Amino acid sequence: MMGRRKLPLAICVLFMACTACFTAPSYVEDPPPTQCTVTPSSRFDCAPDKGVSKEECEARGCCYSPASEHLAIGQPWCYFASNYPSYKVINKSETENGFTAMLSRCVKTFMPDDIMVLQLDILLETDSRLHFTIKDPAKKRYEVPIHTPKCKGKASAVQYDVQITDDPFSLVVRRKSNGQILVNTALAPLFFADQFLQISTSLPSQYLYGLGEHLTSLNLETTWSRLTFWNRDISPKKDTNLYGSHPFYLALEKDGSAHGVFLLNSNAMDVLLQPAPALTWRTTGGILDFYVFLGPEPKAVIQQYQEVIGLPFMPPYWGLGFHICRWGYSTSDMTREVVKNMSKANMPLDVQWNDIDYMDAYRDFTYDQTRFKDYSEMVKEFHEQGRKYIMIVDPAISSSSPPGSYAPYDDGLKRGVFITNGTGQPLVGKVWPGLTVFPDFTNPETFRWWYDMAKDFHDKVPYDGMWIDMNEPSNFVAGSLDGCPDNTLENPPYVPAVIGGTLRHATICTSSQQNISSHYNLHNLYGLSEAIASHYALVKIRGKRPFIISRSTFASHGHYAGHWTGDVFSTWEQLYYTIPAILLFNMYGVPLVGADICGFVGNTTEELCVRWSQLGAFYPFMRNHNDHDSQPQEPYVFSEKSQTAIRNALYIRYSLLPYLYTLFHKAHSSGDTVARALFMEFPTDPNTWTIDRQFLWGEALLITPVLEQGKTEVNGYFPSGTWYSLVTGVQLQSKGQWVTLPAPMDTINVHVRGGCILPLQLPGMTTQESRKNGLVLVVALTTEGFARGDLFWDDGDSLETFERRDFTQVLFIAANNVLLSEVIQLNSQADGLKLQSVQIYGIASPPKKVLVNQVATEDFTYRKDTKVFSVEKLSLPIKSQFTITWS
Ligand code: NOJ
Repeated sequence: MMGRRKLPLAICVLFMACTACFTAPSYVEDPPPTQCTVTPSSRFDCAPDKGVSKEECEARGCCYSPASEHLAIGQPWCYFASNYPSYKVINKSETENGFTAMLSRCVKTFMPDDIMVLQLDILLETDSRLHFTIKDPAKKRYEVPIHTPKCKGKASAVQYDVQITDDPFSLVVRRKSNGQILVNTALAPLFFADQFLQISTSLPSQYLYGLGEHLTSLNLETTWSRLTFWNRDISPKKDTNLYGSHPFYLALEKDGSAHGVFLLNSNAMDVLLQPAPALTWRTTGGILDFYVFLGPEPKAVIQQYQEVIGLPFMPPYWGLGFHICRWGYSTSDMTREVVKNMSKANMPLDVQWNDIDYMDAYRDFTYDQTRFKDYSEMVKEFHEQGRKYIMIVDPAISSSSPPGSYAPYDDGLKRGVFITNGTGQPLVGKVWPGLTVFPDFTNPETFRWWYDMAKDFHDKVPYDGMWIDMNEPSNFVAGSLDGCPDNTLENPPYVPAVIGGTLRHATICTSSQQNISSHYNLHNLYGLSEAIASHYALVKIRGKRPFIISRSTFASHGHYAGHWTGDVFSTWEQLYYTIPAILLFNMYGVPLVGADICGFVGNTTEELCVRWSQLGAFYPFMRNHNDHDSQPQEPYVFSEKSQTAIRNALYIRYSLLPYLYTLFHKAHSSGDTVARALFMEFPTDPNTWTIDRQFLWGEALLITPVLEQGKTEVNGYFPSGTWYSLVTGVQLQSKGQWVTLPAPMDTINVHVRGGCILPLQLPGMTTQESRKNGLVLVVALTTEGFARGDLFWDDGDSLETFERRDFTQVLFIAANNVLLSEVIQLNSQADGLKLQSVQIYGIASPPKKVLVNQVATEDFTYRKDTKVFSVEKLSLPIKSQFTITWS
């Protein structure tokens, strides 16, 4: 705890003024009558900490009305009176960035250690971004140590209005253009106690998205639900805290405009949603540090959010290929066998993985000298085949090897890199290797130590990426081997609804100490901090783009690494839930995300695995991974028929990689999403606002997977416009309607949006092969005969090619029976790349004459049934502009 800083005179005066009301108990003894006429859906819980009786509730100055009298589940029985005391504004002034105000509370709340005087700062950072913080002016409190933009001055043409009401204090943010209220904190009192901070706001509609990581539909449930943020090792289940925390939401307004709100706070937290509709942020420490993003398009909200948390890193091209893994590849030969079997089955594979099986006694940065005796040769063989290799690394470091026999521990101990317990000793828990200690990645020395360990290991085994697991951090004993001390960090006055009931459950003691603060404050950042350390280590070791997949995440994770959705069950229900999960992570700025294809826990079925592989071919990160005691689920273990279906899906993905890579470039350069919810693309069509059984890649591809057992048809929504089957080119004209599509086992429905041009490439068995193949353009015309698209191309692996402008970018435009390219940026990587054919969808009548760069060609076909016009045998270097005309 830090001492009180010296305060400026004005603030001291405020303190004195307020002291007067602390010492005047008459108000407390004789409170004004409580005002209890509050509509049921707008009741805010006055007993978050425990169940209270009517008397206890009323003694808090709150209203009591049991739900059984008239009302539904979830609604609080004890709720705030509309005149429940809150803070009031005691002075306001303009600042260079906006304005500031002091807030003071004269009556203590029922939570311990109220901070009676607060400072509100409002920063008009950009025209579309408002930032406001509420802090203790007297004492520096913990703040999340992520890098955020620092702005000078005030934005001049802001899209928002901020209004402060003085008594009681509340803040309203309105969209200037139409007066729509985006944030209104007047609905419930503000709490700011040392370990309990709570603020509520109205919502413009029930169309609310975000607040992960949870197992939810895309559109969150606002009828009395609670979302808990405390990173946790647990197979995804409903209504529990999961591996990551992203305290950000996007809300749709009635007209399809959108705004976003981000609470930059990493403490254990609950968010409550209620039908008013309203939302309550309830956190257990730190400060209130809010950002409001004005959009107004949903896409713009996500971009504006990423301006604060950081844009996604650019993955290597190979990372977008197919990855295979399982827990249980227990020897190098068995691992090799998987690659061989994939080749034999003619299935593309870019990256082979190993789980903890490769390790010696499950210790990081070691390998079993018997089972993996030729480990490094194995990895080199994969490299010779044009493949990459990734292995798992857990953060917990074995602490029970004989001294001098295990460098990661010995060296780490010397360098002081481990999280310490109440006695200043490394906290000891238990993970796979037995007794373990936990690196503190907020310590710069840990960064250096982690790099050293990763580098030593890389010198032995030239791995290409890291899979960082168990980094919530997971611990098989509660807190530590010796339990945890009894103090307010371990037993805070309010414990969010975490699974297990206590914060230490399945993790380390919250009062353990890290370099920059207590684990209580930093817990939710553990995975992020490990991802950052791993990112920097890999860059330094390999000098190429890092590829890291992490289980635990926090806001800004996507700047450093990707994510997989953990230990999902092999069930049809969980197959569906992976779609909202992937769409939401894209909204959190983590586009490189996927779920374990065919499911992780439990046995898959052949049908489920085929359908999952078809959907998984459209996860931005595509990996089949399986538990050690489940039936095998590699694509080649199934019948010929199922293998054909999975192979088709893989070929479609590999064909689409130039488009997918271009989308990743857009995510990296401007914060676009890769896997995209329909409402993001069609926000003015309310039919799209709840759709999460279909999704888009970018703006151009609509994916309609089968998510139910035994189905050979699927119902999909097609927003108004022209759509074409990617594979056949058959046209579907939609007025904004549901369409039943045939979906036999070998088919995944993918449609191209009229108006878009997609760059494709013939698939290879690896991306190293496919990158050498000819390009194909799929041109999907609007009814007016127009389309456009582009291609981003570079060497696929070097660092900062975009930043160094070492890339090629080509624009494609089709209009008036002409398809042409325009080279916007050129580098040598495009040298060998040639356009081989074009497929133009939606040509009403057969062209008779076709010119390629003004020269007539006969190499074209037209299919009357599908209205697809193809020009073949082109061989046009992509680095030179071309025109193709038809008449
Ligand atoms: C838990 C991970 O979520 C899972 O993917 C992995 O297989 C096991 N740990 C074993 O390392």
